[in-house]
Amino acid sequence: MSFCKLGGRVLQARPLPWKSYVEISRILSSWRVTSLRNSSLSGITRRSLHQTTCKLQQEIKNQNVSGASSSVDFLSSYKHSFHFPGATRQISELAHLDPTSGEEVVLHGYLGSRSDLSKKLSFVPLLSKELDYSVQIISSAKQPNGGEKSFHAKIKDVEAYSPVAIKGRLKARAPTKSDLGDVEKIKNLEIELIDVYPLNEFPKDIILTEETKFPAEQRHLQLRTEKSIRDALAFRSRTAAICRDELGSKQGFLEIETPLLFKSTPEGAREFLVPTRRKGFAYALPQSPQQYKQILMASGIPRYYQIAKCFRDEDLRADRQPEFTQLDLEMAFATGEDVMGCIEQLLRRLWVDLLGDTNVPEKFPRMPYHEAMSKYGSDKPDIRLGMEISSVGHLLPVDLISKITPLTLPTVEVMKFHVSDDPRDTREFVTSFLDGPGAATFNENPDGAPGIFVVDSRKPLSGLSPFGFEAAEYMEEELQLEHGDLVVLQARKNAPHSGGSTALGNLRLALHKAAVAQGLVPAATGFEFLWIVDFPLFSPTNESEPGQGGTAGLASTHHPFTSPKNAEDVDLLVSDPMRVTADHYDIVVNGVELGGGSRRIHDARVQEYILKEVLKVPSARLSSFSHLLDVLRAGCPPHAGIALGFDRLIAVLLGRDSVRDVIAFPKSGKGEDLLVKSPGQIREGELETYHLEFSE
Ligand code: AMO
Repeated sequence: MSFCKLGGRVLQARPLPWKSYVEISRILSSWRVTSLRNSSLSGITRRSLHQTTCKLQQEIKNQNVSGASSSVDFLSSYKHSFHFPGATRQISELAHLDPTSGEEVVLHGYLGSRSDLSKKLSFVPLLSKELDYSVQIISSAKQPNGGEKSFHAKIKDVEAYSPVAIKGRLKARAPTKSDLGDVEKIKNLEIELIDVYPLNEFPKDIILTEETKFPAEQRHLQLRTEKSIRDALAFRSRTAAICRDELGSKQGFLEIETPLLFKSTPEGAREFLVPTRRKGFAYALPQSPQQYKQILMASGIPRYYQIAKCFRDEDLRADRQPEFTQLDLEMAFATGEDVMGCIEQLLRRLWVDLLGDTNVPEKFPRMPYHEAMSKYGSDKPDIRLGMEISSVGHLLPVDLISKITPLTLPTVEVMKFHVSDDPRDTREFVTSFLDGPGAATFNENPDGAPGIFVVDSRKPLSGLSPFGFEAAEYMEEELQLEHGDLVVLQARKNAPHSGGSTALGNLRLALHKAAVAQGLVPAATGFEFLWIVDFPLFSPTNESEPGQGGTAGLASTHHPFTSPKNAEDVDLLVSDPMRVTADHYDIVVNGVELGGGSRRIHDARVQEYILKEVLKVPSARLSSFSHLLDVLRAGCPPHAGIALGFDRLIAVLLGRDSVRDVIAFPKSGKGEDLLVKSPGQIREGELETYHLEFSE
């Protein structure tokens, strides 16, 4: 203990566990300010205060430098935490040991909440490092060890949830039954405490109970308290290991890392730029390793894969993150068929190894894009739901059509959904759905709100009289309508499909989800794998997507490196690009687009023709692809590949709705990491360093 005198007041330099030097001088300054206000320190000059502060700081410094026992508790306990005994056992293995052996063990983990049976006897659970097992520690007051504080007193000083090393002896106990929530108890033995080594403190101001739910700002505590997230991360790690084994060891792919500091090229998605200190120069983070993997194919690497970080500055949803992971692969001297075969083998292996599911078929069914859009209103249909859509406009009376849409000559589609055998329940369900906030997008559809009918056999034409006799009869037969069925009509423009979904396709999913939530229909189970093929190579330019920045009014549906499917499609490049079918394939599972890939254009002249003549990419942007054209020109072999969304793969395997549940540090809906608070605001000095300035 050291003392100093300040303005007649004795200041005790007692342990100030929370004070850094800076803090100490702040505190002394604040004493000065308040004391000056109270006039009790009126005689103190700034100089004498400064000298006192320096003296105190120097004293602390000297003590620490000389290694003498520190007067600052936190430094001393920090030094103690350097030396702790290695674990001789894992808590999970204790159940297999002989409890009567009296073996001395060292265990690492977190202390749980202590119960004091008396002043001299306490029980405290010790949780394993993984937070999945717990063993009971018994501590009873004994003589201090060699004059030091007794271990019983020591353990009582340790706050619950603090990390510790425990030395103790195995002791048989009467078997206990209950587990601690998600934590499995060691039931046949306990540990008689010999010593405890506190390794850090869990603060008193964090209240942690079984019910505590921590916000994203405290992701570390979310992870620590929610076993389901930790389990998802462990599952993710296992999945990655199997992918590496399957692709690397079994299928002969080489794992190669490609750069994250790439450059801006108009591949399709909006990029993140990384400014550099070199004036006017920036990297871009890759939206995918697409171009590098094609370069590898031209570089004599016949099979590449990577678990790759990708970055896209796009609107976020439950299945989208600005920073996400792909299982990316590419094969030279290969076609799309080879790639699909390889993915079928990989997914079968994952489903067997991770879920014990042996029902994954050898070959997955395929469905052309236009069929998926017509039948399910989605390019990633969940075919488990049924609820197929068909076109009926040609059957319906004109006045009915005019009531459901302002469009002239629209396409009108119908879908049925069996919610209940009782039409009253169906009506109640659909009315509350359409009155709910989630239905606004359907009710306000500029192509017309959905037309809703409920089949009721007690009514004329079973409640379908607005359809007219002929259409009602046809519909009853064709759709096999039953009493209580919901029938939905929806109009859309009479144009070829483009994009990922139709209004009726979205309504199909929303109605099903609402009915499941209300317990009216069972949730779909099992896994349905489906390849969606025959996408159009080009789509009309969409304002919300950056595309390739071409001036032709069209953009690549996926990316500009995808090959036309057949020889006829190559001819259509010249005569009618919008009719070209792409050699692209998406793998869809239960309505989730798990991955997408294609056969690539491996001929530089064709690639250049598509960029320059079909998409009409301006020459400045075209030059950003010159490296790829050079590479293809150097005798690049035919190649094809695919990327699976790795986060989505884990979410699908675990049946989670959002990829956020399977990512350690996901971004919020606004693209922020609320724990570390990124993105950070750019500081004035940084603007200068990177030669940037804010526009007005
Ligand atoms: P694509 O853009 O289709 O293809 O991406 C492949 C897969 O990556 C996943 N994915 C995402 N996951 C989470 N958040 C996102 N923002 C996100 N964006 C995409 C999806 C998607 O199916 N280079 C091509 C692949 C190729 O042609 O080989 C590509 O990136 O599961």
